[in-house]
Amino acid sequence: MVIKKVGVIGCGLMGHGIVQVAAQGGATVIALESEQRFLDSGLARIDKSLAKLAEKEVEKGKATLEQAKANASAVRGRISGTLDKKALADCDLVVEAIVEDLGVKLALFKELGAICKKETILASNTSSFSISEMAAVSGRADRMVGLHFFNPVQLMKLVEVVRTPQTSDETFAAARAFGESCGKTPVACKDTPGFVVNRLLVPYMSQALMMLERGDATKEDIDAAMQLGCGYPMGPITLTDYVGLDTTLAIIEGWVKRFPKEPAFAIPEMLRKKVKEGKLGRKSGEGFYKWEGDKKA
Ligand code: 3HC
Repeated sequence: MVIKKVGVIGCGLMGHGIVQVAAQGGATVIALESEQRFLDSGLARIDKSLAKLAEKEVEKGKATLEQAKANASAVRGRISGTLDKKALADCDLVVEAIVEDLGVKLALFKELGAICKKETILASNTSSFSISEMAAVSGRADRMVGLHFFNPVQLMKLVEVVRTPQTSDETFAAARAFGESCGKTPVACKDTPGFVVNRLLVPYMSQALMMLERGDATKEDIDAAMQLGCGYPMGPITLTDYVGLDTTLAIIEGWVKRFPKEPAFAIPEMLRKKVKEGKLGRKSGEGFYKWEGDKKA
């Protein structure tokens, strides 16, 4: 099955990037949002990112200014927005990238199962929830996968393709090929908590926060240590701000509920406190650091 028409639900931090890379891969993409203002701001982010991409292509001598602008406008021309779920009915693939709340996702997949044509593959970009649980309510478990992209979607080269015991070979192959068409390297994962990346990354981030809580080192030194000692592009405290403190907390809370005896899944008090104060990281302008747009202040 070749994926030509894609629906992306949620045009926020992850969703707008998925819309863009899918369109860059040649698909026609419909972005669905719950309110016009969210749709407008997601599409504006895509415009900004495509302009940056065109700028880079020219800078690197990959295209002339005219070619780069024409490429960007062809990609943008494949993207449309909607507030109506029924517009996704004849998509070949629908990728969910909404808030990390299992109840909301389950209700959505139940609805999609009823709305979409029977061939449509359904995918979740969840960071940590069980794909099998979503598949069960969709009524089409053989056509459900996880497609987990990384932030910032336009730049990170990986996509995790998550299969459950019910996912058909055809669905998995189509989802994997779609990931490749988006310019990503797909890795196959089983439906385990956090798949591969977050199962390793989130406990590492929470250990760094506990280190900070204990006063073992300053946040700047923890970050510098991992950047300079291990060659990571960002230290763990900066990365927590970058991913979002609320998202990080939601991931760990979900795991603690499901696996209360697993010592690797522990919630740093500092994380709870900051989220309660509305300090969510880059997205709110302050987390462990202060942010101006995409950069630390
Ligand atoms: N399109 C194309 N190119 C773009 C672009 C765009 N929209 N935006 C920026 N670029 C280019 C830049 O021009 C630059 O190009 P150059 O190297 O040729 O000069 C390059 O991309 C890097 O951009 P920046 O200079 O702005 O950024 P940095 O070099 O500071 O890198 C970063 C930023 C890529 C975010 C890097 O810091 C990084 O890799 N950080 C780690 C991110 C990470 O770990 N993400 C995973 C989080 S976990 C997750 O997402 C899972 C979830 O479930 C929680």
